[in-house]
Amino acid sequence: MKILSVVGARPNFIKIAPFIRAIAEHNAKHPNPSSPSPSLNLEHILVHTGQHYDDKMSKAFFDALDIPKADINLGVGSGSHAEQVGKTMIEFEKVLKAEKPVWVVVVGDVNATLACSVTAKKENIKCCHIEAGLRSGDLSMPEEINRLVTDRLSDLLLTPDNLSIENLRKEGVPEEKIRFVGNIMIDTLEANRQKAAAIPMFHVLKRNALLDHQIRPDILDEHYAVMTLHRPSNVDDKIIFSSLVHFLTREVSHELPLIWPIHPRARRNLEQFGLWQEVLEQKNMVLLHPVDYHDMLRLNMGAKVMLTDSGGLQEECTVLGTPCLTLRWNTERPITLKEHGGASVLVGNNIDRIRQEYKITLSQKRLPVRPELWDGHTAGRCLQAIINYTH
Ligand code: UD1
Repeated sequence: MKILSVVGARPNFIKIAPFIRAIAEHNAKHPNPSSPSPSLNLEHILVHTGQHYDDKMSKAFFDALDIPKADINLGVGSGSHAEQVGKTMIEFEKVLKAEKPVWVVVVGDVNATLACSVTAKKENIKCCHIEAGLRSGDLSMPEEINRLVTDRLSDLLLTPDNLSIENLRKEGVPEEKIRFVGNIMIDTLEANRQKAAAIPMFHVLKRNALLDHQIRPDILDEHYAVMTLHRPSNVDDKIIFSSLVHFLTREVSHELPLIWPIHPRARRNLEQFGLWQEVLEQKNMVLLHPVDYHDMLRLNMGAKVMLTDSGGLQEECTVLGTPCLTLRWNTERPITLKEHGGASVLVGNNIDRIRQEYKITLSQKRLPVRPELWDGHTAGRCLQAIINYTH
């Protein structure tokens, strides 16, 4: 059986790595290619749409997570959403016509997820969505549109938690399409936890810092904050981004050293909005290039507090127990919030609210929690759901 899986942007790489490993393990157990049962012989093709193309956003993750080089790269690159989705569909259609897979597997909620699920269904190919059922209810987020369309079209919806199953039921998705498999990101976290823990903090700073003079040998675990920002709602609006940056530079970094791996979208806007010099000059801030998977995990493991608008980091903070301020007004991952037992609080981009919650988190202890089936074995369940699919 031929399975074609798709990745496009950074968070996808983290989700696909364990799935590819699960296929390799399955094939090692079923080595006979002339077996009478076709589903036992899995041929896998990896397609990279090319949405994220910088070495630090893409290759660094393939290398760190032992993902084999993509068989096909669509070379889509940057552009508006319509351009990215349109180009991906045009190129992906050619791939499907040539390869004729039985399944297309898409992960997460990026533009590749949407473009490739639509193209697969138009070619009458079965589609499986890993990380189905997440809903923020906020249609101003491009990712929410991607999730809704992908879930509406997919044949097999593999969910990370029970709240996602409820979302799908409310939308009328037939029960036989839904499987609760757990969170595949946590497979990657568990497989890499030890390696990340062994990295000295100083090495993380030294190899990723933008400016040599910001590399601080004295930064200790539980005595620094980490921040990541990339959502258009935070970094594309000059007034919002400026007030966040002023709060960070004038308040957060006065209390704790603030480590900030800067996403290309955020960096471009810092420069455009005239904020770049202000962050460069901060003494208690450490600006980093985008960091690889292990370095990010290491930063998260030792952070006193995480400030982020990334969904994946919210999930990782839950399992690591890092107090997390989610710089968004809503989340498609409510299971990561304190009210559902997680480590995260929604603070939006209102400075008073962020300040208030930031003070609270400073007095909190690390409290790891593990939602059901976030056990490091989700990828195997994903693959089994595909193999067992009978419709
Ligand atoms: C995308 C995903 C988002 C995900 C995020 C993780 C969508 C709709 N959004 O957002 O869900 O959380 O990735 O990073 O798919 N750029 C580079 N180098 C690169 C890639 C991008 O410089 O390797 C620049 C682009 O030119 C663009 C900006 O970064 O100006 C944003 O990239 P884009 O792919 O449009 O979306 P992200 O904001 O990264």
